[in-house]
Amino acid sequence: MTTPAELAFSSTDLTPSELAHLQRLFRSWSILADLSFSDLLLVVPASTLSDEEPRLVVIGQIRPNNRPTMLVQDLVGQTVLRTSWSLSATALERGEVVRGAVHHPLIGESVPVENIPVRFGDRVIAVMVRVYSRAVATPISLYEKNYFDVFGRLVAMIAAGEFPFAQEEVGTEEVPRVGDGFVLVDGEGRIEFASPNASNAFHRMGVYSTLEGHTFTELGVEASAVQWALATCHPVVEEVERRPDVIVLVQCIPLLEHHAANGAVILMRDVTDVRRLDRLLLSKDAAIREVHHRVKNNLQTISSLLSLQARRLASGDGRAALYEAERRVRSISLVHEILSRDPSDQVPFDEIVVSLVRMAEDSVVSPQPVEITVHGDLGEVTADIATPLAVTLAELLQNAVEHAFAGSRSAERRVGHVEVTLAHGPEGLEVTVSDDGKGLEPGFDIERTTSLGLSIVRDLIVSQLSGSITMGAAEGGGTLVEIHLPPTHVR
Ligand SMILES: Nc1ncnc2c1ncn2[C@@H]1O[C@H](COP(=O)(O)OP(=O)(O)OP(=O)(O)O)[C@@H](O)[C@H]1O
Ligand SMILES: [Mg+2]
Repeated sequence: MTTPAELAFSSTDLTPSELAHLQRLFRSWSILADLSFSDLLLVVPASTLSDEEPRLVVIGQIRPNNRPTMLVQDLVGQTVLRTSWSLSATALERGEVVRGAVHHPLIGESVPVENIPVRFGDRVIAVMVRVYSRAVATPISLYEKNYFDVFGRLVAMIAAGEFPFAQEEVGTEEVPRVGDGFVLVDGEGRIEFASPNASNAFHRMGVYSTLEGHTFTELGVEASAVQWALATCHPVVEEVERRPDVIVLVQCIPLLEHHAANGAVILMRDVTDVRRLDRLLLSKDAAIREVHHRVKNNLQTISSLLSLQARRLASGDGRAALYEAERRVRSISLVHEILSRDPSDQVPFDEIVVSLVRMAEDSVVSPQPVEITVHGDLGEVTADIATPLAVTLAELLQNAVEHAFAGSRSAERRVGHVEVTLAHGPEGLEVTVSDDGKGLEPGFDIERTTSLGLSIVRDLIVSQLSGSITMGAAEGGGTLVEIHLPPTHVR
């Protein structure tokens, strides 16, 4: 579906690099809305046929965070005649800021507007329309005065093509808002004004002295961002860590006049809690990995104990049973081994399959060589199905190498084949294991078998995973086991 913004973007003749300039403006214009306590619109010339009246199209709209909005309706995507938005049209044509007033139909009186030309290279490509209430027009407090002052300087930069910055860092980091903490410094980096929230951020960093007139360094805050931004005339983002428990994100926007920085705006946000959560999450991942690692180690110890004990018994049922148990424990430990390497709860099942196949090949007892091949893959599966599925596959492979080719006379010795197919589609998971061996006993029914191996498999697939399993004759002899798991299990 096309959004109104996409539609609006496609209805102008601007070049891709011009549109990119406007996208950069969108990334940072929340600051402009807050500094001016105003609603902002961005309008560009709409592409029109030669005999049509020229129009403008609204491609962006933002509301201030610190004042009620003047524009309750969503205007993005609307086109208007240039003649009816004549102030914007004039700003676009002349490349000058055009101020005036327009009638506001909902408020029922005229409201002040400011039309700011957005320059890119030697062309005015758009107009930023500022709509505000008369109540905010005259600043009363010191901080309002400073906000307006900085807004005015940014407006001059927009009109001169110096804002937004060409190499604006497009990080994933959320841009701080003005309300987070606002500091204005002069061309030397001396603080001229700091908002109450910025003072709080300084307090958190252990700075209680007067801020005005000092640089960050003099205050003991090593924020090289400020000096960098002033020296390079580019915006800089930095995280300042004061004592191990306070982290403040500092975004520094240089204020330029004739390509030289004569000051800078610094937005400060205390991100201590955010970072603490990040670290907790990291250590939680590490803890989960550690647990899987230990579980794997313990299971391996158990499986070694079982095989030690099996070796002490004379060959017979007891010994075979201990070896079986050992193998089952080992197939579970495979899953934990993989989970201990990967912190997500998704397991690359193909790695497990490789190990299971190796385990089965190692336990071939018949005189006949057995070849196991795997087709397809399941991709990643969640840990809660990986374990039962691994145990199931281990049992089925074990059965194939143990029973399918047993009793074949050496005269007819040929290679036995076992095939595993794995598929992961919208219908869920499909796993099959087939062999070309002697096939099942007549009258065999997996539903009714009481032997341990298949009982475990049935229980895991049907009761634990709500899947289904069938076992019967394969085409051309041998045995075919088919397993289906519903898609709810596959994330
Ligand atoms: N691929 C196969 N080919 C031929 N017969 C099979 C195959 N898979 C299973 N069977 C038959 O089904 C029976 C039941 O299998 P099941 O895995 O439940 O027990 P088991 O392998 O005998 O013992 P264990 O509990 O050690 O697995 C086997 O004894 C065997 O006769
Ligand atoms: Mg078995």
